[in-house]
Amino acid sequence: MNIKLATLTLTLATVLTPIFAHATTVRIACGSDSGDLCKKSATEWARKTGNEVEIVTTPNDSSALLALYQQILNSGSDKIDVFEIDMVWPGALASHFIDLRPYTNGVQAQHFASLIANDTVGGRLVAMPWFTDAGLLYYRKDLLDKYKLQPPTTWDELASSARKIQDAERKAGNDKMWGYVWQGRAYEGLSCNALEWVASYNGGTVVDAAGKVTIDNPGAVKALDMAAGWIGTITPQSVLNYGEEEARGVFQAGNAVYMRNWPYAWSLLQKNDSTVRDKVGVMPLPRGGANGRDAGTLGGWQLSVSRYSKNPKLAADLVTYMTSAEVQKMRAIQGSYNPTIPALYKDADIVKANPFMTALYTTFTTTVSRPSTVTSSRYNQVSSQFWNAVHDVLSGDQKAADALGDLQSSLNGLKSGNSWK
Ligand code: GLC
Repeated sequence: MNIKLATLTLTLATVLTPIFAHATTVRIACGSDSGDLCKKSATEWARKTGNEVEIVTTPNDSSALLALYQQILNSGSDKIDVFEIDMVWPGALASHFIDLRPYTNGVQAQHFASLIANDTVGGRLVAMPWFTDAGLLYYRKDLLDKYKLQPPTTWDELASSARKIQDAERKAGNDKMWGYVWQGRAYEGLSCNALEWVASYNGGTVVDAAGKVTIDNPGAVKALDMAAGWIGTITPQSVLNYGEEEARGVFQAGNAVYMRNWPYAWSLLQKNDSTVRDKVGVMPLPRGGANGRDAGTLGGWQLSVSRYSKNPKLAADLVTYMTSAEVQKMRAIQGSYNPTIPALYKDADIVKANPFMTALYTTFTTTVSRPSTVTSSRYNQVSSQFWNAVHDVLSGDQKAADALGDLQSSLNGLKSGNSWK
């Protein structure tokens, strides 16, 4: 075949395959993410394979999302083929997902082993890691410079510098200025924030790795009293209703000195229309005093294939593509989503777009895990009791010591005998 003929055949094949091949529709649940990147890569997969994708948009509050998923999956519905799941859900949802190992060609070996272990339930790989998260402290470099203050390494330093800058900026005319914004609504995000405070005071992780309830301890009481003291002083009362995006809204409008958030916020803070573009630094969250520890909560999202899907093979192919190094690189550059493939942390383009990813690599690998593996299908009950207790303390309805004493008994009551199974 001469070159012209070969090119013609190739062109015809490209044009005709999608017309004559039987295009199958794969439905994927995409939460809202910066720049619609989930949709972008799913559509790209459809174009490459001659199939179609339908994007099912879902709420971005992870607690509301879990309730929706449970409803869909418990009914055995095939409405969604690919689920975007939080890293704390494999234990609760495993029975609804297929084992991905027959479809991945071993690529899981490229990912962080701890994430693959998290996504493996009863020896089955029920999800593939998509991006990983860690709680981070965002700060206004320009304001710290203006007031000649250093970025804080302890919560006390954070509170005193936040107060100082907030008061001075209000005096100078910005009466909307606050010291510190974070996620205080009664939902999973509050469990993540509260775990950070508690763990930073060496107060443990609510339930320890052996399954013992540990939350009623002096470090945890101290941590919650501290956070309750921020409300109305350096943190607006309205934080009790904030998720990630509400906190980002305040910080990005230039109305907060510090913000606790996940890596995704970085790319949005750097957008051309952002008031704080080029004025922001990122660092590990503060410690609970000189003897405290670094304690960013580990988060992140995975992709799973429903066992009720009519097209599990194609759905698994979509998952393999969406979690591939190529797509993770695009998502890291365009949306500052942390890759789950360690090698990508050395990729020059990723480092250029997100200097903090390399600078804080140790932070990302020494995070604090929520007790979701040990409590498995009961994790959501454990977490909702934790966030409700914390919310009561923050709202001033209960003292930390009382709330944590009650929580300890109530969590012990959730166990069946000595076990969480
Ligand atoms: C982020 C984390 C997720 C966590 C959620 C809480 O999306 O990746 O693990 O549960 O925030 O709001």
